[in-house]
Amino acid sequence: MTTLSIIKADTGGFVGHSAVHPEMVEVAASAIDGARGDLLLDGQVATCGDDLALVMLHARPADDPAVHEFAWEVFTQTTAVATRLGLYGAGQDLLSEAFSGNLRGMGPGYAELEFEERPSEPVICFFADKTEPGAWNLPLFKMFADPFNSAGLVIDAKMHEGFLFEVYDLYEDKRLTFDCPAEMYDLLMFIGAPARYVVHRVISKSLRETAAATSTQRLSLIAGKYVGKDDPVMIVRCQSGLPAVGEVLEPFAFAYGVAGCMRGSHHAPLMPVAASDAHPSRFDGPPRVVALGYQVHGGRLVGPRDLFDDPAFDRARVQANDMMDWFRRHGPFEPHRLPLDELEYTTMAALEKRLADRWQPILSPTADQRVMRR
Ligand code: F6R
Ligand code: MG
Ligand code: MG
Repeated sequence: MTTLSIIKADTGGFVGHSAVHPEMVEVAASAIDGARGDLLLDGQVATCGDDLALVMLHARPADDPAVHEFAWEVFTQTTAVATRLGLYGAGQDLLSEAFSGNLRGMGPGYAELEFEERPSEPVICFFADKTEPGAWNLPLFKMFADPFNSAGLVIDAKMHEGFLFEVYDLYEDKRLTFDCPAEMYDLLMFIGAPARYVVHRVISKSLRETAAATSTQRLSLIAGKYVGKDDPVMIVRCQSGLPAVGEVLEPFAFAYGVAGCMRGSHHAPLMPVAASDAHPSRFDGPPRVVALGYQVHGGRLVGPRDLFDDPAFDRARVQANDMMDWFRRHGPFEPHRLPLDELEYTTMAALEKRLADRWQPILSPTADQRVMRR
């Protein structure tokens, strides 16, 4: 058994919340080099916006204390670099004082997938910045349940049986597995509300193997206040009875709307970009997604290929810019701004208190007329 773990954190932004400083990447890469052949079979460092991700291949299970502790150690070192350079929000996602057991509830996000390596194992790692874990719901549904996206659901016998979607309720801390296509409409009722319901895993019914895994940590639910957007990651295995690479990428040809962007409090389009363009700028956005493809072979990560570095996604980028113009013109109004109960920053509680005495009952129509006659 092999495990692919992506563990990521924002440990400081350069400049503001737009990117990771190259010195932080160097420190993380040399830590990975030191662990290769020991704790790790192989590993690489990736970034998206102000998030630094460790892509690690190892022979330990998911949630392994040593792998999680290693990541925590690396993030402590990158935080030290960020502190020395005065980068923005140094150590932002390290919510605990010290590591204990595993990373659950400690701030960093992680997606982990255990598998038996196939003779050829194409895998795509996705990294997003300025959005939340539920942002993967729409593309995962399209890849694994929508025949208008994935031709294989109709014409590949191994995909035709369908997939199981494991969904987490992040508010209640519980999970439920939906059997698709039979329970497709039930599934959509939940995952269409991505702030609360998040697809955590997708499993092939015919292969009985995990095909996709996502990070599901929501920082604000852990910390009880806004500390930064969760900026999720996802792993998707491809081909031979699973969606083809092109079917996995296809949902991103549409710049769909996600929550995130400025102050974690606005809807904006998700823009698929090459790694070199994954630096949110305008209105701290638009939110970005990067796709790095690997062939996992003999315990090695052969790659990456930067899969959105492709003119086939130019139209999605133009669409994202057009949508960004459309949303921006709403200024502080919904649907650009998130509904009140999902705002990550809010002055509402203080305003309600300050204005409490000035609210008057709305007069009944007859009383209203009396006022007008006066
Ligand atoms: C979005 C994000 C940024 C910040 C914004 C204000 O996820 O992190 O949009 O919310 O730049 O940051 P502060 O409050 O730190 O000045
Ligand atoms: Mg940040
Ligand atoms: Mg970020």
